[in-house]
Amino acid sequence: MSVHQYEAKILEALKKLKKITASELAKELQLNRDAVSRMAYSLSKKQLVTLEKLTTSKILLTEEGQGVIENGLPEKQFLENLPKQISDVSADMRLGMNWAVKRKWIELKNGVIVRVVQTPPVTEEERALKNINKLNAEELVLLRKRKWVTKKLLTDYEISITPKGQEKKIELHTTQVTPEMLLSGNFKDINFATFSPNQPVPEKWPGRFHPMTELIEKVRSIFLELGFTERSGPYIESAFWDFDALFVPQDHPVREMQDTFYIDGSTEVPKELADRVEKVHMDSWGNWNPKEATRRLLRTHTTCVSARALTELEPPAKIFSIGRVFRNETVDYKHLAEFHQVEGIVYDPNVTLRDLFGFLKHFFSKLGFDKIRIRPAFFPYTGISAEVDVWLESKNKWMELGGSGIFRSELVEPLTGKDCPVLAWGLGIERLAMMYYGLDDIRDLYNSDIDWLRKRRVFI
Ligand code: PHE
Repeated sequence: MSVHQYEAKILEALKKLKKITASELAKELQLNRDAVSRMAYSLSKKQLVTLEKLTTSKILLTEEGQGVIENGLPEKQFLENLPKQISDVSADMRLGMNWAVKRKWIELKNGVIVRVVQTPPVTEEERALKNINKLNAEELVLLRKRKWVTKKLLTDYEISITPKGQEKKIELHTTQVTPEMLLSGNFKDINFATFSPNQPVPEKWPGRFHPMTELIEKVRSIFLELGFTERSGPYIESAFWDFDALFVPQDHPVREMQDTFYIDGSTEVPKELADRVEKVHMDSWGNWNPKEATRRLLRTHTTCVSARALTELEPPAKIFSIGRVFRNETVDYKHLAEFHQVEGIVYDPNVTLRDLFGFLKHFFSKLGFDKIRIRPAFFPYTGISAEVDVWLESKNKWMELGGSGIFRSELVEPLTGKDCPVLAWGLGIERLAMMYYGLDDIRDLYNSDIDWLRKRRVFI
């Protein structure tokens, strides 16, 4: 029976020492304590050592306790700079004041602080703090009451060598297979290290990005891989870009205050574009008030980023944007008033609805959702409009994720001067996150539940 190289080191040391704790041995051998405990455990399974669990406690100074050692008792500090009135006592001096009253070093009379004791005596607490390494039971209670020390439980193991271990000739495991061993065939006779992947190890929770940040990064990389370019736009938009340029009539209900957050003041609108937008609105809806278009609001969707981009692009072009949007919405398990959307457009004379569905299908399958459903829908800015649902196997139901379609020429022509197909879609990322992370309530994404943040699934 051969042993691992660390086991060999431990056994070798124990042949001389006979008995030692895991923590001392770790120091001696300059190994990590967990590694020593683990190896000692595996040696004990081979009956080469025995282990005895030791539980000890250690008294540790808290930060506050350290402060008292450095700066003195709060009540003495208070006495040193004694304020005249209670109203002069700042929040961080209150504790010192209360203790000084309790000890009858001062008295409070009608808001005035009166000194009773000139030189305060040495207190039990101060004596105890001087004696921090040899506290008796009373002193410990005293200092724990003032939260200057805490008791920490430590577990250690005493490792003792067995007679079998004492006699054992140490042979090392081989940990690596070499080409020579394979060629000569002697690997069959070699004693290889065995591994126990099921042995418990200490849990580690390193810092990581928020699940929404990770999902957004993933969404971004999917679009970048497909050759899309990213764009962004302002949170505070004009009604012009959020609604008018998208051919949303000025009397459309989404524009009402109950649905949209408006911001005081107005903003400028590009004159030439506004004239063209005015013309389509007049021709189609019969009214358009330029003042309405200058109102400021928190953008209600990222489709305004696509509208802005169209005026600057030449086909063929593929762009996407990811960002926050705001709606005057009652918050519930599937609605937030502030959330993220990912928006994409494909501005290309050669694309059709099938391409749109292809992009959506590809996007969702990259996130691991292979079953999607497209339902007819209505948006003021798309001629052919479709709602996208994704099948949630675990819940056995369809989940609504957003809208898509081909932009109407009433939108594309005034913005680009061209009649060219533009595929467009806008999806809610928090909804996607609910599905991806298996949440039943959209608000849980922002509840910062530490257990969930640690244990949620990761992207691979
Ligand atoms: N803007 C729509 C929404 O917020 C989504 C959408 C984008 C629909 C592009 C069609 C085209 O729900």
